[in-house]
Order: sequence, then C-alpha cells, then structure tokens
Amino acid sequence: MSLKLQLAKNTSATAHRIILCDKATSYAGFLSKEDSAQAKSAFEAKQPTYQTYSGGKSVTLVMVDNTREAFKLKEDTRRAAFNVVRFLNGQKAGEASFENATANKELSFAFAEGAILSSYQFLKYKTKDVKPHTLVKLLINENTLSKTEIAELEIVTKANLIARDLINEPLSYLTAEQLSKDIVKLGKEAGFKVEVFNKKKIESLKMGGLLAVNRGSQRPPTFNILEYKPLKAKNKKPLVLVGKGVVYDTGGLSLKPTPNSMDMMKCDMGGAATVVGTMYAISKLKLPIHVIALIPATDNRPGEDAYVPGDVVTMMNGLNVEVLNTDAEGRMILGDALAYADRFKPELVFDFATLTGAAKAAISGLATAYMGTASDEVKKKVEASSKNTHERLVEFPLWEEFAPMIKSDVADIKNVGGSEAGAITAGKFLECFTTYPWLHFDIAGSAYLMSEDNYRGKYATGVGVRLMVDFIKNY
Ligand code: BES
Ligand code: ZN
Ligand code: ZN
Repeated sequence: MSLKLQLAKNTSATAHRIILCDKATSYAGFLSKEDSAQAKSAFEAKQPTYQTYSGGKSVTLVMVDNTREAFKLKEDTRRAAFNVVRFLNGQKAGEASFENATANKELSFAFAEGAILSSYQFLKYKTKDVKPHTLVKLLINENTLSKTEIAELEIVTKANLIARDLINEPLSYLTAEQLSKDIVKLGKEAGFKVEVFNKKKIESLKMGGLLAVNRGSQRPPTFNILEYKPLKAKNKKPLVLVGKGVVYDTGGLSLKPTPNSMDMMKCDMGGAATVVGTMYAISKLKLPIHVIALIPATDNRPGEDAYVPGDVVTMMNGLNVEVLNTDAEGRMILGDALAYADRFKPELVFDFATLTGAAKAAISGLATAYMGTASDEVKKKVEASSKNTHERLVEFPLWEEFAPMIKSDVADIKNVGGSEAGAITAGKFLECFTTYPWLHFDIAGSAYLMSEDNYRGKYATGVGVRLMVDFIKNY
C-alpha cells in the first residue's frame, strides 16, 4: 500500500495542510498574523519547516531555498516531503492536502514524488507488530499539478516501488522461475511483451556463462526477453536494457563469508528489477521509443555439480573464460546476455548490475558507478537525467590499459582482475561481449541500503528506474 494522489478543488479545509513556500511567499493567506511572524523568524533561523495548529487542524509550511541550484532545490523538496510524511504518520493522519505557494511549478512534482517514495513499506511477511503508515491519501490542489502530471507521477513512482518489491522479496519466494512469472504478469498489466526461455532453450543457444553459474543450483535458470514496441517509435534500432538477475548470490564454491556479506544477497537481481520497473513505466506512459530488455536469471550456489575455479567456460559468443572465482558470476551471465543483444542490432545497450563490492567500496550507496563505450553525447544525456532525478552517477574510466588485467594464460580472458580497480576490470570483462555503443551501471552500492536514507528508504531503493524513465523520455 502506498500513498495515493487525488486532485482537489479546495484544500484549505483539510485537517492537515502542507504548503510549499519560499522567500517570496506571504503567509497571510494561511496563517494568523501572530503565526506568520513566528513562521518568519523560524525560517530566518534556517528551520526548513514550520508547524502550527488551530482548531484541531495542522498547517505545515515547507520552506525551500530559491538560491540553491535547480536540481538541488528539487532534491531538497523530495527530502522535505520525507520529513513531512514522517511527521504526519506520527500524527496518525489519514490524509493531507498539498499546495505550492512558490512560482516554481517543478517543485510540486518533486514534493509529491518524495511523498510517495517515502510512504513505501514492505509488509508482506509481517503478521505481528505491523505498523502500516496511516497517511494514505494526498489531496493535490488543482493549481498545483495537472491530471496528466499526477498520472505520470503515479506511474513512475509505482515502477520504482515495483523494483523495490522485487528486490525485497527473498529467494524463498523469488526464484528465477518466479521472477519470470512476475515479469509476465507485469507485462500483461503494463503492455509489454514477454518471452521466457527455459533451460533447454538456453542450452540450445549455448549460453555457457548462464549455464555454468546455474550448475550448483537445484532450480533451472531462465532468460527473459521483454519488448515494448510502440507503433510510432522514434528509433529505428532498439534501445536494449540488460539486467543482472542473480536471485541469490552465495558466491558458489568461492563461498561468501556469512553473515556479513551474504545477508543482503537477495538484492543481487537489483539490475533485473531496474529494467523491469523501467519497462513497466515506459509502457504505461506509452513513450514513443522501442525498448527491449534482457534478463538472465539464476541463483549462484555451491552444489554437487557447481562450476569450480579453474573451469574454462565457452560463452555464447565463443569466447573462452577461465573461472578463477565463482563469486564473479554476474559477469558470466551478463556476458551471454550482452552477446545475445547483438541480434537486435541495437542503437545503444545499457546494463544494470549489482556487480562488484569494489563499486560499493569506492562510492558507497550514494551513487552508481557507470562506464562504457557510448558517445559523449549519450553520456551527457545520462548525466542530465541523473541530475533531474538525483540518482547520482560517477563515471569510471575504461582505459585500454586495464585490459591486460583480465588476460588469462589458459583461456581468452579470466573472470577476475587483480586486487585493484575491481569495478573497472568487471566492466572491461563485459566490454568483451559488446559490439555496439554501450554503458554499464554498477549499482552494487546504490541498489540496497542497510540503513534508511530519506525517501530512498531502507533496503531496496529501486535505483535506476527514475533515471532510465527520464532518459528514455528525453531520448
Ligand atoms: N553480487 C556481488 C557484488 C555485490 C557486493 C553486490 C556487495 C551487492 C553488494 C558479486 O557477484 C560479487 O560477488 N563480486 C565479487 C567479484 C570478485 C570475486 C572479483 C566482489 O565484488 O567481491
Ligand atoms: Zn558474486
Ligand atoms: Zn553477484
């Protein structure tokens, strides 16, 4: 359950009123003379919100600082929404109203977005001590957002929350086959086509990387092809999105130490969740862009027949990989998916993956590391979307000097580099399977947080969905 938006003619009578203000706003319309003076001094003291009550009703003024850069101001507003939502849930409020008393219309969108994303809870498995948020409805003043803006906002935020739900689901529910079922269901709801390849088909395609990782598992892998092709697509050649779908990563025989590093490994299909959420949103929004998504899915386990360090695996594109660490499984399944993307003659390919602890160590959960061979023009557009959505990106270099680090003595390449530049050597590995302009997004840090970060929440963040929807919208 999450926060629903509803247009309203008059919002002044609601029990909980939220008003976005800036320096130019006069409070005379909402507050008594006395309250106005107090609000003024609170804001002068740099307090971001001012709360007052009269006749059992609350008014919350949210002050935004117009001197901030536009993208920071939007982020301030999303973050302010988180605080207001928390306050209103604390008050056991069921509904509240929102109006924007500043001249900056973009901030209405940002506030409502922050409010919806802050209202997310994953309660599916709680039977006791359940504390659902009380705030379930936000009345939006007519002058604040249009009907179409509200519809768009609801789709994009829902897509983000769908990604969060998928990531928060444990392996006890979300096996590779269940992930495929969930994708089929979402495809029917949103209007994208889904084709699921079973193990036999994957074998016939010689996807050696995906099959090798799956060997330790009791359950079959799947390979999922999602397609959204509008009648009047602006692009002749498709945009292809690839998502890492490791539904659980134990490390395989190169077992991860428990409990520290395995606790969060249900998040290892975070890349798959990003592309599923994106496909959901662009289909619902009916954006005029042809997009295909590819998701190789399996768990990674030690098992009787598990692949072992020292094995040589022939990938779908014929490249031989020496496996030196079975925990570097993401690149094995992505290599095949990237090779498969070639048959669509794509204009551009993006992959999303919780790929390396190194990316997380380098930049924490605050940002996604990205790298690739796409043009500077594409990179600029991606970075513009990053600013719009505040889903932060940091570019890592893919210099040719890194290539020798994954050369193998016995095969063409090996699946681990040295102890340095782990996120980049993983990227260099993936590059070997690309034949088109491509970007790789390592979301190992940003996909899943062990402590709450404002509207991004605790645990799954759904990172990448808002970024991609913005990118495709402006494509
Ligand atoms: N799924 C992990 C990466 C990861 C780490 C995701 C932390 C989310 C949080 C990936 O499969 C992995 O284990 N990578 C190894 C690669 C290494 C063996 C070359 C790593 O980063 O340690
Ligand atoms: Zn791993
Ligand atoms: Zn992994």
